[in-house]
Amino acid sequence: MPTRPYVIDEMISAKQIAARIEELSREIAHEFSDTDKLVVVGLLRGSFVFIADLVRELDLAVEVDFLEASSYGNAMESSREVKILKDLRGAIEGRDVLVVEDIVDTGHTLFHVIGLLKARKPRKLRTIALLDKPSRREAPIKADWTGFEIPDEFVVGYGIDFAQRNRNLPFIGKVRFTDDG
Ligand code: IMP
Repeated sequence: MPTRPYVIDEMISAKQIAARIEELSREIAHEFSDTDKLVVVGLLRGSFVFIADLVRELDLAVEVDFLEASSYGNAMESSREVKILKDLRGAIEGRDVLVVEDIVDTGHTLFHVIGLLKARKPRKLRTIALLDKPSRREAPIKADWTGFEIPDEFVVGYGIDFAQRNRNLPFIGKVRFTDDG
């Protein structure tokens, strides 16, 4: 449970997100137009809303799988050590794969996951992140598609949490603490 009181200021509306997903899905469908079945891999848990909306906009045959890498726990700082908590169900050798991330922050999570999946020899491996905080980057990685670049703010909503809260907000909002600490 967060210990400090906070409010959430809307940063990206549900309408803006939907419009951007429509644009991105056209580019993705083009990139994978020669694919008979795309494997869309959601990184749990933050991407679950994004992947649900994205695959419904994709005019392609898709299979959906999930992978969970360790993340922040209940703190607001990223850890450099990335562990796989839940692996894919299916093999991806020779397959076309799209990895779906909620936010690329330091980039360590996506960097690690990409290394792991590349070693399994997919035919094509691409990445999409709903949000990117480029000013926070530590690992040498950039998603192939990004929904929105944002400043260094802690955000919630649309699948993204603060200490497991606020994932069910339909928009992306930034956390603003209302005490002095
Ligand atoms: P990275 O490894 O530092 O790029 O961190 C990626 C993960 O940290 C994301 O998938 C999120 O789960 C989490 N994260 C990064 N920034 C935020 C934020 O502003 N709010 C909530 N979670 C975040």
